[in-house]
Amino acid sequence: MIKVGIVTASDKGSQGLREDESGKVIAQMVDTIGGSVLEYRLIPDERDQIANTLKELCDDKKLELVVTTGGTGFSPRDITPEATLDVIERQVPGIPEAMRAKSLEITNRAMLSRAVAGIRGKTLIINLPGSPKGVRECLEVVLPVLPHAIEILTGSAGECAVKP
Ligand code: MTE
Repeated sequence: MIKVGIVTASDKGSQGLREDESGKVIAQMVDTIGGSVLEYRLIPDERDQIANTLKELCDDKKLELVVTTGGTGFSPRDITPEATLDVIERQVPGIPEAMRAKSLEITNRAMLSRAVAGIRGKTLIINLPGSPKGVRECLEVVLPVLPHAIEILTGSAGECAVKP
């Protein structure tokens, strides 16, 4: 089982003005690789609040994977990548690179995603776009490598044996 947290950054969602469909999509998709959603937060697009939530889920809740949705675009309030960079210790550029590369085959707007991914302690944090469509398209790119990534990160697999 992979211990998963979902953080939805949405001003409207946090005020009860919008249903969080994207959070549900993440939960369904991580379930297919043995992920279990232990923590879920729906919070406004506030840098400190997002950063503190990520810290809590990594340091206190000791989750292995934290997936965020929303706040990666160009709107003045979009601040999730900056909040993520505030807390990660090591960047994992290959993950957003892969998501953007695949997504560009679907929509050229994929280049507008400012998503980042990185490691804090033994937790991998991944930003996804806000829309359920964007979440689905991006998460399916990285999902196959996540079990191995988590194994290496948490020390349950010794080394990176090459697999196709
Ligand atoms: N990536 C995929 N795969 N599919 C999408 O529909 N939408 C893009 C981009 N990435 C999209 C995508 C758009 S329109 C924006 S503005 C950015 O993600 C950021 O989205 P966000 O502001 O909802 O986080």
